[in-house]
Amino acid sequence: MNLSASDTGQTPETTRTPGTTGTTGGPGAAGAPAAPAPTDGSGSGDRTVLRLTGVSHTYAGGRRRTAVLKNIDYAFARGTFYTVLGPSGSGKTTLLSLASGLDAPTSGSISFDGRDLAELGLGRYRNRHAATIFQQYNLLTYMTALQNVTTAMEITGAKPVSGSRRGRALELLQQVGLDRDMARRNVLRLSGGQQQRVAIARALACDVDILFADEPTGNLDEDTAQGIVDIFRELAHKQGKCVVVVSHAQQVAAQSDRVLTLRKGRLTEQVNPR
Ligand SMILES: Nc1ncnc2c1ncn2[C@@H]1O[C@H](COP(=O)(O)OP(=O)(O)OP(=O)(O)O)[C@@H](O)[C@H]1O
Ligand SMILES: [Mg+2]
Repeated sequence: MNLSASDTGQTPETTRTPGTTGTTGGPGAAGAPAAPAPTDGSGSGDRTVLRLTGVSHTYAGGRRRTAVLKNIDYAFARGTFYTVLGPSGSGKTTLLSLASGLDAPTSGSISFDGRDLAELGLGRYRNRHAATIFQQYNLLTYMTALQNVTTAMEITGAKPVSGSRRGRALELLQQVGLDRDMARRNVLRLSGGQQQRVAIARALACDVDILFADEPTGNLDEDTAQGIVDIFRELAHKQGKCVVVVSHAQQVAAQSDRVLTLRKGRLTEQVNPR
């Protein structure tokens, strides 16, 4: 966890393969329309927060080697909400684990604000700059929902603008639809969808630059899922965060700014008209 730390049927406005332009992909790359203007005051300069350069990843197990990611170039920008699509086993979780600093690529490099993650330190990057909502939640099962959130805040040093960490944690839990009674329950006494919401609140509690989420709405009903998507959109468009979500849900992809698809180790991009 972050304490230390399908395809859509939508019609793309543009489709291209990052890396085929001769530059890195992402906002500002040739052939891509301008990304939505950020509202965080970061200005018109380079809004790239995370850059993948020639990233390949291969899992070695016994005699078999699985090449999951192949020479991916992509630049993720602040103030932008991304959805990553792709068939099961195409490498979405692998991509997220590299981009969130849980693992290092077999080859290529990843940089945050121009600094190589290897140089910055993966632990430091995860603690200060990137939060992840995992496919399997990764909650501390001996704690309550509230303790899961406050513990993450303590470990990452996140301080609320006003009030206590406890108050902020309760506020975030309420925002994702968990009342005070649920907040005080051991997480194993919550349903799967409620545990998922605890994981979302925990990630939101850590004031980071990039939020990664692996199938965050998979266990949620449509209304609750929409509430989570609204939070992601606000984080990107009002707070200038970079939000990267793996999801099979059309509901999520259709509301993000950019839709990335992983297939056969390659990443392609569509830009949603807004
Ligand atoms: N630790 C590992 N060791 C060996 N192979 C792995 C490991 N983790 C993942 N893989 C393999 O890498 C490929 C990509 O896995 P990954 O979990 O990234 O896919 P995914 O797109 O997230 O799939 P899903 O949609 O089912 O979650 C799969 O073939 C998987 O079996
Ligand atoms: Mg996965």
